[in-house]
Amino acid sequence: MKHRSAIVTGGCGFIGVHCVKRLLEQGHSVLCIDNLSRRGAQANLNWIARDPKRLPGSFNFDQTDIRRFEELENVFRKHVHRHGNPEVVIHQAAQVAVTQSVAQPRIDFETNALGTFNVLEAVRRICPDATIIFASTKKVYGSLESVEVCELDERYEFRTLKTGIPSSHPVDPSTPYGCSKCAADHYMRDYSRIYGLRTLVFRQSCVYGTRQFGEEDQGWVSWFAIAAALRGDINVFGRGKQLRDLLWIDDLLDAYWMAWHSGLPGQVFNIGGGPQNSLSVVELIKLLKELSSDETFNMRVRQFSTRPGDQLVYVSDISELTQKLGWRPKISPRQGVEWLCEWVKRNRAEIEEVALRADDVHDVQDPGFEAVHEMKGESFRESTNVRRADASRGTDYNSNGLCVKGVPVEAQNSNEHVTTRVSQFHRGGSFHRR
Ligand SMILES: NC(=O)c1ccc[n+]([C@@H]2O[C@H](COP(=O)([O-])OP(=O)(O)OC[C@H]3O[C@@H](n4cnc5c(N)ncnc54)[C@H](O)[C@@H]3O)[C@@H](O)[C@H]2O)c1
Repeated sequence: MKHRSAIVTGGCGFIGVHCVKRLLEQGHSVLCIDNLSRRGAQANLNWIARDPKRLPGSFNFDQTDIRRFEELENVFRKHVHRHGNPEVVIHQAAQVAVTQSVAQPRIDFETNALGTFNVLEAVRRICPDATIIFASTKKVYGSLESVEVCELDERYEFRTLKTGIPSSHPVDPSTPYGCSKCAADHYMRDYSRIYGLRTLVFRQSCVYGTRQFGEEDQGWVSWFAIAAALRGDINVFGRGKQLRDLLWIDDLLDAYWMAWHSGLPGQVFNIGGGPQNSLSVVELIKLLKELSSDETFNMRVRQFSTRPGDQLVYVSDISELTQKLGWRPKISPRQGVEWLCEWVKRNRAEIEEVALRADDVHDVQDPGFEAVHEMKGESFRESTNVRRADASRGTDYNSNGLCVKGVPVEAQNSNEHVTTRVSQFHRGGSFHRR
């Protein structure tokens, strides 16, 4: 077999570890770079390194921080020396939480903007023929205030943009995370134009799947599935009608692989489940309840006002990927969420262990507590005495009261920041600090 080599940054994260696994299955010598800063990264490293012999490729791990260029360049050089030039560099390492980016913008900038620049420089200097796949984000489009949204019973929807947001939509990032990823996204494109690097940018919507140790501020689908299975509190920001298009992890990887082998470098794609695979927060809670065979399903939903930078609706226009690559998502949210719940049930001990290790007390920029909903066998619904967070704080409703312009609440609340404890799981079923 031809010797094949690849590099994955953030290879112990959720998406990264799936990339590493697929590359190993295809016989690559994979260099996995990760500083293990993310909760669950160590567990993913243990999982992928457990039995490297079962997969045809070879697995090599280096606990390097992408913010440190000299170290990064060194590990790239060593890998190329031992295993040859990588065919592909998949860049996933990032600070991924918007809330953390607000709390610690320098770390966010250094990781996402400078770290990505370092990865590009390492490729330019050491392996310029490699394809570089970059995980960008829908957040480059900001809060999409100019896109009209209408409110239905259980979800918001784009009023006119029925096919979703295309990659030609103007970027307008509105949080430190959006800004740092947008800078990185532009560097990726420009290094293709200026230096001829084979960069591919995927502006990802909501990706979900196994090996994702979701947290409240990132990975909400997995966070909810874990909370549903282990009986926990869920904090909902706004009315729970925020809509996202969901993409199952293997569908994302199929798109990466198709783009990599297409010979179309320098491209930017919006990717997600598209309009056919969208789900609101309320709809996900209902689906989890429906899928739960456990009669004791008991989820307490606490309602807060909208978070800064939250898009009311985000759905990707994926038609470009379909036209150029013939790609389309195969896994529906119902199927994916079912698989996710099975994974959570099968790996309960590991998930609790991961959560136990993280005695995180994040400073969450919390715009204000609104209400609590107990979820004992009934559907999530907004109780009548709940203040309508958006309306009461100046959201721009039109005359019939149904259509809103996407105006989140954040600005007025800048003095209301409080520190909340991010949920924790405890051994033995009962969990979560209240
Ligand atoms: N999961 C999604 O829905 C989603 C959506 C849009 C964009 N993205 C992007 O996809 C990428 C992967 O996301 P994910 O969900 O797998 O996140 P993740 O947090 O699970 O993975 C990121 C990994 O990067 C590592 N890391 C962080 N800082 C690092 C540093 N300085 N040096 C080296 N490693 C570092 C972390 O330890 C972690 O293992 C990120 O770039 C993210 O911005 C993800």
